[in-house]
Amino acid sequence: MQGEAHQPVEPADLNDVPGWFWDHDRHSFEWFLARQEKAGVTGDLMEMGAYLGRSAIVIGDHLQPGETFTVCDLFDSDAPDDENAAEMVMSYRKTLTRSAFEANYLSFHDELPEIIQAPTGILADGRLASRSFRFIHIDASHLYEHVVGDIQVARAALQEQGVVVLDDYRSQHTPGVAAATWEAVFNHGLKPILLTESKFYGTWGDPEPFQRDLLDRVGLAAGCELGIETINGHRFVRMVGTSEGIEPFRPSRHSDKLAAERARREAEESRRALREAQDEAARDLAERRARAAERRRPVNVAKRAARDLLPPVVTSAIRRARRG
Ligand SMILES: C[S@@+](CC[C@H](N)C(=O)[O-])C[C@H]1O[C@@H](n2cnc3c(N)ncnc32)[C@H](O)[C@@H]1O
Repeated sequence: MQGEAHQPVEPADLNDVPGWFWDHDRHSFEWFLARQEKAGVTGDLMEMGAYLGRSAIVIGDHLQPGETFTVCDLFDSDAPDDENAAEMVMSYRKTLTRSAFEANYLSFHDELPEIIQAPTGILADGRLASRSFRFIHIDASHLYEHVVGDIQVARAALQEQGVVVLDDYRSQHTPGVAAATWEAVFNHGLKPILLTESKFYGTWGDPEPFQRDLLDRVGLAAGCELGIETINGHRFVRMVGTSEGIEPFRPSRHSDKLAAERARREAEESRRALREAQDEAARDLAERRARAAERRRPVNVAKRAARDLLPPVVTSAIRRARRG
């Protein structure tokens, strides 16, 4: 989890934006969105639950001319009920502000998406044109009642072959998402396409063309390992594996400036370390010279000569006499 991580004021790359969005899902988002674009599909994009922008930044990269990207999140606003408020306090309140989201998003894009700062429940009021979206990511409240509502909104808003993604459909701490997801599959016509470790990808259209391209590995990174499962007649693809072949996301607009600042800090640090080492060597040399000078003083030379030349019996007698 990266949500508690210290957030740099300006992110140099996507890994500097806190969130819960890992390589396989970034690759999968890009795979589904790019596949639509290559096929000439147009339609709006939506994210319910953006936090500090980690996944929204990736979705926003796929906005085509004439399309709208809408983000709905509470950000700093109150939650609509106590359970949701507890969720917010537990996971997001310490770090989340709308202005931090906006600053992160604008580090990678010239314009903000349409932002609806409100509970996702508000999206059911008819403000979304039906069958106009091609991609919807549901990652807001993880409580059953909210996710059921979000899925209904997505179903009405998505085009025939539109793709819905549900976050945390199998985590131990989010049983409500699992219940709402599989309920939608068994009772409300949602068809699974792909399951990753964190996310469920589905459609109310035909999952088969997506699955065929996945299994043919069209545009899929080498590290993606696929398997096929069937539950009660629903076939779906499972994906695990490594990040091999998954290209890093492009750097932010601050990346060059931040790299130059880092290089300057590192150069300053090595100059300081060099100065310290030189000072230390000079001090050491001065001490050694002082000790050598001390040894060369006439009284010490005489003492050393006596110790070296007189027989041991005489020198110990002298020492005893001195002590007495
Ligand atoms: C898990 S985070 C989103 C993570 C983000 N998609 C990412 O990948 O980095 C969940 C977000 O949902 C928001 N949220 C929680 N309950 C909500 C609700 N009822 N309506 C709208 N947003 C909500 C929280 O403010 C938080 O930003």
